[in-house]
Formats: sequence, structure tokens, C-alpha cells
Amino acid sequence: MENYQKPYLISFDVRGDERGSLVAIENLKNIPFEIKRIYYIFDTKKKVRRGFHAHKILKQVLICVSGSCQILLDDGKSKQTIFLNTPQEGLYIEGLVWREMFNFSIDCVLLVLADDVYNETDYIRDYENFKENVRENDSNCWKK
Ligand code: TYD
Repeated sequence: MENYQKPYLISFDVRGDERGSLVAIENLKNIPFEIKRIYYIFDTKKKVRRGFHAHKILKQVLICVSGSCQILLDDGKSKQTIFLNTPQEGLYIEGLVWREMFNFSIDCVLLVLADDVYNETDYIRDYENFKENVRENDSNCWKK
């Protein structure tokens, strides 16, 4: 039985002056975990939809540092779509959440911070398998 935090948006403080803007990201300060991996998705072709997986234990923060995209989040019981279009906020995701990314603008750079290194065994890439995992964990609902 594991409850987990519902996905939420983190607002980053922006240090701005007449030269422009700057956001600083620090482990366990404005990111609720120690970052072990960073990757970014860019140059995404038109009408591409990607993701189509859940993670068993990985925690992530998604930041659209340029352009915009949409993220479908599905906990097996309810779905929501988040529009990311600013480098000033990050989408925190933990627990069993199926995610799909779509509607990437041509200039979209989606930066992802993760609390662990890449590990294919942490992925659930089959939707039915994901639903099964959700059923097995009957308290798999987002904390209020
Ligand atoms: P994939 O999981 O298909 O991306 P998405 O879920 O965003 O659609 O990843 C694409 C490829 O990159 C795949 O071969 C796995 C590899 N990859 C890594 O090697 N390291 C990583 O940290 C990630 C996220 C992917």
C-alpha cells in the first residue's frame, strides 16, 4: 500500500535584471530529491506523441525550458493534461503515473531531472500492465 504525491507544478524563483532572466536549480531545495540524471528532449517532429510509459519508483521534474508541450498524466483512475510553456516552472511526478508527451512546439526543449540513473527495469511500457500494477496497489491514488 503506497500513497504518493499527486503531480504538481513547482514555481522557480527567477533572478531577473535588465540583462534577462536566470533560474537556479538545487538538490533538495527547489527540487524535492537529489538529481542523479538530466536529459532533454528537443527537435521533436510534428505530431509526435511520446512517453507512453510509467515508472515504478522514479521521481522526475519536467521543465519546458523553451517552447511548449503538453503532458498527459494518468494514475489509472483519472487523467489530466498539463500545459508546460515556461522555464519558470517544473512538473513534479512520482509514483505510478502513465505519461504521454505531445503537441511539442518546434522550439520545444523539455528538460527532465530524475532521482536515478536510466534503468529500463523501472519502466512499465505496456498500458494493460500499468493498469494491472495500479490494481495490485489499491491505494494507488494521489494524496489529497
Ligand atoms: P524513450 O524511453 O523511448 O523516450 P520517451 O519515453 O521520451 O518517448 O527513450 C528513447 C531512447 O533513449 C531509448 O533508446 C532509451 C534511451 N534513453 C537513455 O539511454 N537514457 C535515458 O535517460 C532516457 C530517458 C532514454
